[in-house]
Parts: sequence; structure tokens; C-alpha cells
Amino acid sequence: MILVTGGAGFIGGNFVLDWLAGSEEPVLNLDKLTYAGNLDTLASLKDDSRHVFVRGDIGDRELLAHLLTEHRPRAVINFAAESHVDRSISGPGEFIQTNVVGTFNLLEAVRGYWNDLTVADKQSFRFLHISTDEVYGTLLPGDSPFAETHPYEPNSPYSASKAASDHLVRAWHHTYGLPVLTTNCSNNYGPYHFPEKLIPLVILNALSDKPLPIYGDGQQVRDWLYVKDHCSAIRRVLEAGTPGETYNIGGWNEKPNLEVVHTICSILDELQPRADGKSYSAQITFVQDRPGHDRRYAIDARKLERELGWRPAETFETGIRKTAQWYLDNLTWIQGVTSGSYRDWLKEQYAL
Ligand code: NAD
Ligand code: DAU
Repeated sequence: MILVTGGAGFIGGNFVLDWLAGSEEPVLNLDKLTYAGNLDTLASLKDDSRHVFVRGDIGDRELLAHLLTEHRPRAVINFAAESHVDRSISGPGEFIQTNVVGTFNLLEAVRGYWNDLTVADKQSFRFLHISTDEVYGTLLPGDSPFAETHPYEPNSPYSASKAASDHLVRAWHHTYGLPVLTTNCSNNYGPYHFPEKLIPLVILNALSDKPLPIYGDGQQVRDWLYVKDHCSAIRRVLEAGTPGETYNIGGWNEKPNLEVVHTICSILDELQPRADGKSYSAQITFVQDRPGHDRRYAIDARKLERELGWRPAETFETGIRKTAQWYLDNLTWIQGVTSGSYRDWLKEQYAL
């Protein structure tokens, strides 16, 4: 089996669903169920014996040692993290705890387990660490996209904590020989995305007749990848990546935020028009910028394409339409996540 951490979150949840849709190999899913973890995402696996869910912390070395010895996974895929940049600005402590200290404890537990494997099992074992393009910092308009060789220049508490975890993973390979792989992906979007992030927030606010908050001038550029394409890239790297290597994942979809929001509004205008006949874009509101806001991210995914033959299946245009339709079709999942604590966060962040 494989051990997935953070498998009740946005990307981890999509990964577990996709994995079990295409493979009989069971998944042990370890997730702390923070505000971002949601078992509703995995509801379709409720009676599926191939999915074993354990609520727990990647920082709990004793629990990890027990789970590894009991289930003997052939690979660990580490999605677990605090992932929201704005929350890392208002409260960085949890980010250091989970992303840095947690990854350290996970690596140590896995190293202990891996050391005791047979030579053949040691060789085929993989620790795949899921990371982000934000570790590379920010780009100017004419700069080349981030390649794997780009220096690490993280700018937010979130990206600094992810950069630290990437360095730990690298060191555990060079020093102890642990067969690690690291992927650095651009912005994801798609089903089961927690509505604190731009795309789901805009879709849900639009449908609830609330303001669509744009930070600063809205000209910051992000490089968008449909989450299921991220999942297929991870499966490919797990299958064929070279231990010790890092792989950038992206779909060559750079867009300024304001354009993304206008695109969502026009899709919703078509799929579920406002009662007054106006466009949802009338709800766009410019708000105070994020402190230290990175201006542009762009991923050069040529290494993954060239060496492992991976290609995304969706363009931004096809993926964003599927995403808008998914939110319209899944109001029960949305009602489940829009709990009291989430409403408190909205009040604190936007004063809306
Ligand atoms: P998310 O916030 O939606 O989910 C994180 C999951 O991790 C949640 O289920 C949460 O309960 C769990 N978790 C948090 N702390 C934990 C701990 N200490 N122990 C066990 N579980 C814990 O995040 P996401 O957007 O799905 O991101 C997953 C990974 O992918 C993260 O490592 C993130 O840095 C990386 N990433 C995200 C994006 C993106 O656009 N969302 C892009 C590139 C990389
Ligand atoms: O690049 C990969 C990263 O993408 C991941 O590592 C992070 O985990 C993930 O959260 C995401 O980070 P961003 O900060 O880019 O995503 P977010 O959805 O928070 O914001 C996207 C852009 O939209 C960013 O420029 C900030 C802006 N924004 C965001 C929100 C929530 C707004 O203008 N208004 C908003 O209300």
C-alpha cells in the first residue's frame, strides 16, 4: 500500500480519489483534520476497504512508527501542510510546526522504518514530498519561468516553511540515502477546493451575492493547473522519477488575477445568470493588498515533460468551466465546509 499524508485536504483528497479510481493498491490516509481537512471529500470511499483513514499528526513520531510497521507501505506521499499564504501572515506558528517540524518528524519516522527494510525493498521505496513554486520567490514580467535550478527565494512565512521542508527532504537523501522525490507545483484549482483560496472564494461569493475581493490592482500573475493534472503528474513522478531529483509541475497557464475573476464571472453569467440580469463582475471589489504579495509565478515544466513524458489534460479554459460546474452541482459539500470558524476567518481577513 501507499501512505498519503494530508489526504483529506484539497489536493490530497483529489489524489486519493483518483488513485483508487485507477488502482487496486490500498491507501493509508493520515490527516490531522485541521480546518482544511474534510472527510466529506472522501465520502464515496466510506465502505471501501482499500481506504484506511487515520486521524493524526505528521509530527507524531510514535504514531507514525506504529502505522509504518503495521501497514508496511512501499511509498509515502507527503501532502500534509498548512497551505494558505494569508493565514501564514496572520499566524505563522502553525506553519513552522507542521511544515518544518512536522516534515522533520515524518522524515525521521520514515528513515527508521526504511532502514529496517530488505535491500530490495529499500531500493524500491519512495518518499515523495509535495511542494510549491512559491519557494522560488517572485518573477518580473519578462523573466523566464522557474526551472528546477532557480534559487530558493521564499517571501512569505508559508513559502519559507515549505522551502525549509524541501531542504530537509534533500538533506535526508544526501546524508542518509533516503530515496526521496520532490515536486514543486504551481497554483491548483478544481473540485473540493477550500473556499479561502481565490478561485473557490470567487465562485461562492458570486453565487451568494457577496463582494469578489481583489487584492491590490489584481495584476498579480499565477500559473494555474487543474488539480487532476497535478495528481497525474504526481503518479508519474512516483512511478518513474529518479530519487534525489526535483520536478516542477505546471500547465503553462499564466493569468493575471483580475482576468481569472472576469473569466469565472462570465462562465457563471452563462451557467447561472444573476436574477437582475447584470454580470457577476459587478460584484468585483478592490481591497487592501496582501503584505509582501509575490507579483508573478510561472513554472517551466519541461523537465517533467521531457524526462517522464507527462502532459496536462486540461487547458485553463476547460478546467475552469468544469470547476464552476462542479461547485454548482455540489452545494452539499460547500454547505459542509462553510462552518462557523470559516465565517470567522472571512470577517477577520476582509472585514466584510
Ligand atoms: P489543504 O490546506 O487543502 O490541505 C492540507 C491537509 O493537510 C488538510 O487535510 C489538513 O487537515 C492536513 N494537515 C495539516 N496539518 C497536518 C498535520 N500536522 N498532520 C497531518 N495532516 C495535516 O492543502 P492543499 O492545497 O491540498 O495542499 C497540499 C500540499 O500541496 C501542501 O503541501 C501544499 O504546500 C502543496 N501545494 C499546494 C498548491 C495549491 O495550489 N493548493 C500548489 C502547490 C503545492
Ligand atoms: O503557487 C502555489 C500556491 O498557490 C500554493 O503553494 C498555496 O498553497 C496555494 O494557496 C496558492 O497560493 P496563492 O497565494 O497563489 O493562492 P490564493 O488562492 O490565496 O491567491 C491567488 C492569488 O489571488 C494571489 O495573487 C492572491 C490573490 N487573491 C487571493 C484571495 C484569497 C485575491 O486577490 N483575493 C483574495 O481574496
